[in-house]
Amino acid sequence: MSQQVNQETSAAGGVNRRSVLAGLAGGVAAAGLLAQPAAAAGTAAGTAETAGAPERDRRVEALLKQMTLAEKIGQLQLVGDETAARAALSGGGLGGVFSVVGAAKLNALQHIAVERTRLKIPLIFGLDVIHGYTTNFPIPLAQGASFDPAVAGTDATISAKEARSSGIHWTYAPMMDVTHEPRWGRIAEGYGEDPHLAARFAVAKVRGYQGDDYSAPDRVAACAKHFVAYGGAEGGRDYNTVDVSLQRLHNLYLPPFKASVEAGVATVMASFNTISGVPAHGNGYVLHDVLKGAYGFRGFVVSDYTGIEELILHGLAGDGADAAAAALPAGVDMEMVSTNYARFAERLLAERRITGEQIDDAVRRILLVKFRLGLFERPYVDEAAEVKAPSPAALAASRQVAARCMVLLKNDGPVLPLAKTVGSVAVVGPLGAATYDLNGTWAGLGTGAGTTPPVTVVDGIKAAAPGATVSYTPGCTVDGTDTSGFAAAQQAARAADVTVVVVGETAAMSGEAAARSTIDLPGVQQQLVAAIAGTGKPFVVVLVNGRPLTIPYLHDNAPAILEAWAPGVQGGHAIADVLFGVVNPGGKLPVSFPRAVGQIPVYYNHENTGRPADPANKYTSKYLDLATGPLYEFGHGLSYTTFRVDGLRLSGTRLPARGGRIDVTATVTNTGARAGDEVVQLYLRDPVASIVQPVRRLRGFRRVTLAPGASTPVSFTLTPDDVGFYDNAARFRVEPGKIEVYVGTSSAATLTASFTVV
Ligand code: NOJ
Repeated sequence: MSQQVNQETSAAGGVNRRSVLAGLAGGVAAAGLLAQPAAAAGTAAGTAETAGAPERDRRVEALLKQMTLAEKIGQLQLVGDETAARAALSGGGLGGVFSVVGAAKLNALQHIAVERTRLKIPLIFGLDVIHGYTTNFPIPLAQGASFDPAVAGTDATISAKEARSSGIHWTYAPMMDVTHEPRWGRIAEGYGEDPHLAARFAVAKVRGYQGDDYSAPDRVAACAKHFVAYGGAEGGRDYNTVDVSLQRLHNLYLPPFKASVEAGVATVMASFNTISGVPAHGNGYVLHDVLKGAYGFRGFVVSDYTGIEELILHGLAGDGADAAAAALPAGVDMEMVSTNYARFAERLLAERRITGEQIDDAVRRILLVKFRLGLFERPYVDEAAEVKAPSPAALAASRQVAARCMVLLKNDGPVLPLAKTVGSVAVVGPLGAATYDLNGTWAGLGTGAGTTPPVTVVDGIKAAAPGATVSYTPGCTVDGTDTSGFAAAQQAARAADVTVVVVGETAAMSGEAAARSTIDLPGVQQQLVAAIAGTGKPFVVVLVNGRPLTIPYLHDNAPAILEAWAPGVQGGHAIADVLFGVVNPGGKLPVSFPRAVGQIPVYYNHENTGRPADPANKYTSKYLDLATGPLYEFGHGLSYTTFRVDGLRLSGTRLPARGGRIDVTATVTNTGARAGDEVVQLYLRDPVASIVQPVRRLRGFRRVTLAPGASTPVSFTLTPDDVGFYDNAARFRVEPGKIEVYVGTSSAATLTASFTVV
């Protein structure tokens, strides 16, 4: 692989940014990658490349042969509005359009491409369909909390159907950036802090969007984003620098992408960040060597917005031509919004700074996805069949999914569930009557989504307890300083049997470019909770938010806390379902909740230091002024019933490093009086290794539903893949020695056993 880098560099003759990167990692690491057992190349072919693959390849090659250089370069351009699309179509040509919504508009553009361009190559139409197109589902972070990848599958299947019916072929999802940074607003878009959890959800989403064959009229091509390590942004500030060791890149950030390629993901989007000094858009190691080389990815890579142009401000390129000369050889195939390929590729080719083969490779990849989408056979969409409003079935699915994602953080008393026969409920808090804020970031952009406001919490509670008197008093705004509404809120609380305080973040407070330097409840919301607590009446807190919050005050003072996240279009109903026990909450945290912002990053899968935290010893790794560890650990979540996990047994004590397997089984029992869900979680620890290993790594989880008193065995199969790790030459190593197994109901599981890798 590294040889190939060097050959291409000299063939291109001029400056090749990828050669700069080879100094960082390309040489050693790429060689290592070739040596490790990458299953990807084989299995990528499995799902997406179905029976017609050879014929499709022939068609791609035949078309490529007919194309002029200008037509090829045209395919590399993606624009974000109709005017730019029309201009490009009548000029140099165009590969695709994104962010234009509506079947009629898209058909009109497609008619130009198919009827008025020489080779009649259809456009690909993309859109950010992140957690819903017309029907909004909970944000991805919430979906991760379900610990049930089928939830992501449901969202993706319904979203794909709605989007494709409106002419969208390609979604910019799933986002699978693992992060330890709750200040980063984009934590809302991914699946939290664990690579295994993120990989399982990413795969479920890719399959839900694409099905077995994404030419189907109810499927879309997916896009694994953002490649890669975007979640490592320093300080949680969006777009910020990421300096990451090779072992962490491969062990933490890359696994969801590798799994998505193995699942046949059609496309990948480059990320805005640098990776150890080299921006992703010019990073040949990650794009060319790892993604396209070691993983065998055959789809195309799209830039993230003006990511190619941004190579100039990053300081990797002196001008647009330089930027294109860095990005194309690195492996970015299609340029979104900025136009450096369109403007400079011909010149760069003449100057031998890029090669014809590099252009052909990019075009080939784009055409292949277009053929796989069936666009040459069916370029248009049936405008009469466009989905214009959420269907009853989609709404029901969204409600069910949203309740499945909620996490009961605390329940003293227990206060919850509320009785349906309750006489009166005071809903208090600025988000109690929120509508679109319940959709969270990246709310659906599809036809009808913007005219279907989410069900409010007040309305949900009214519907759930029709006999109750339900009042609503906001008390304050989400981020204002005015406390003059507290008195009315207290009065409402005093007059009611129970108060539901709904606080958190607006939709705009998480997502892209929405980093927060403190992650407390914004504004005076915590004081509002204190004011309600001061009434001495029973109350519960419902959190609506897109990231972990620092809520030690709530933990110490609120009897019950329900983490509802941004639950989507049926949010109010889903919250009421959980509050009244129609649904027994079973979600678990996909991310640690810090005690204080100064403690960040705090994550369960950390390495040990030589001086692990010890409250009795000053000279250990901790803060003088804060208890050790998170407020709520990864995997934490309560239920209205109780569970016991016991009977841990292993099928053997030795795992052969080649081809071995061990089955781990434990029994989970519902020890309470209600049916409920528990997520049995399996963690591993390698206590002695050539690269220091995380204190725990999630390697399996299963959500089960049990009737009161019922038990079930839960089994996980471990193979050498589960105990291995990447080293700093990006080589996958399975080392002999002891592996500790922990099984339980959170990352703090104590039930343990061990085996030996031989
Ligand atoms: C920028 C975002 O980073 C990316 O996630 C999104 O898909 C594109 N814009 C297109 O809207």
